[in-house]
Amino acid sequence: MSRLSVTQLSKKFGTRTAVKEISFELEEGGCTALLGPNGAGKTTTLRMLAGLLSPTSGSVLINGKETSEISWRNQIGYLPQHPSFYGWMTGKEYVVYAAGLSGMTGKQAVAEAELILERVGLSEASRRRISGYSGGMKQRLGLAQALVHHPRLLLLDEPVSALDPLGRREVMDLLQQLRQGTTILLSTHVLHDAEEVCDRIIMLRSGEIVEHGSLAELSAKYRQPLLTIQVESDPKGQAAAWLHSLQDRSFVRDFELRGDTALLTVSDMGIAREVILKEAGSRTMPLLRFEAGATSLEDMFMKVVGS
Ligand SMILES: Nc1ncnc2c1ncn2[C@@H]1O[C@H](COP(=O)(O)OP(=O)(O)OP(=O)(O)O)[C@@H](O)[C@H]1O
Ligand SMILES: [Mg+2]
Repeated sequence: MSRLSVTQLSKKFGTRTAVKEISFELEEGGCTALLGPNGAGKTTTLRMLAGLLSPTSGSVLINGKETSEISWRNQIGYLPQHPSFYGWMTGKEYVVYAAGLSGMTGKQAVAEAELILERVGLSEASRRRISGYSGGMKQRLGLAQALVHHPRLLLLDEPVSALDPLGRREVMDLLQQLRQGTTILLSTHVLHDAEEVCDRIIMLRSGEIVEHGSLAELSAKYRQPLLTIQVESDPKGQAAAWLHSLQDRSFVRDFELRGDTALLTVSDMGIAREVILKEAGSRTMPLLRFEAGATSLEDMFMKVVGS
């Protein structure tokens, strides 16, 4: 049975639809990235999965059960995008308190809290009040409370966005270790972060899933032949006009013009190269650059984010 099963999940805030009929399944273990630009619906989705926000329609099943039926605090670890804490508590008091919520005995809670604070790099600061913590320290504390009870499903909303490069590295390494025995769903707006630690991607835009699959599948899918052609500007604008006209060729699947450079995604690199080079030669086009390469998942993501 899959650990998490999401069916036709939607959330409306008034007339605004934040999440629109999304469906996906997560098997046990591994890491999936919920990837999307600002406002895509990542936080809304994660809050519904964590049982903190009721869906307008659709269902979320964890191991076949509704989130309302399970004691979620035992099974789910959730890191909010902007965790809020009681500033008067020390870091350790807070994590012990969080551990207690999952039903641990006092002694167990203290032992587990110490272990996890060590693991997220907060041992030394753990006796200080949270009001004196930096943003990155609060992020680590948020992770500690999400992890202290060894949940089987971890929902992390932008776990590395507030961290400096060193902190980011540490949390990424921690997630690498955790993904062996835990199902992780993390949100991010950075493709690079998703690629580093996750094996699957669910891409959201305007509340809808626009793409999903394993990283290997998606990278292969979006790896298409790409021709980059740059021309020198000429007084009559003939070169620019020619460049522009290339979009109508039968072998051009996608065309983008950036100043005096055209990016052509083509169906057949051999044909495209031959035809265009021949034309450029016969019309003596002032070519500056003619480069054969391939598009990437990054290019696709930039398109999704940009449009
Ligand atoms: N409580 C709310 N009331 C009204 N609208 C909301 C509420 N929460 C979210 N929204 C709207 O829902 C949409 C999705 O927001 P959400 O916070 O889920 O996006 P996100 O992908 O997490 O963005 P970000 O990358 O900025 O964190 C946005 O248009 C937002 O304005
Ligand atoms: Mg968010």
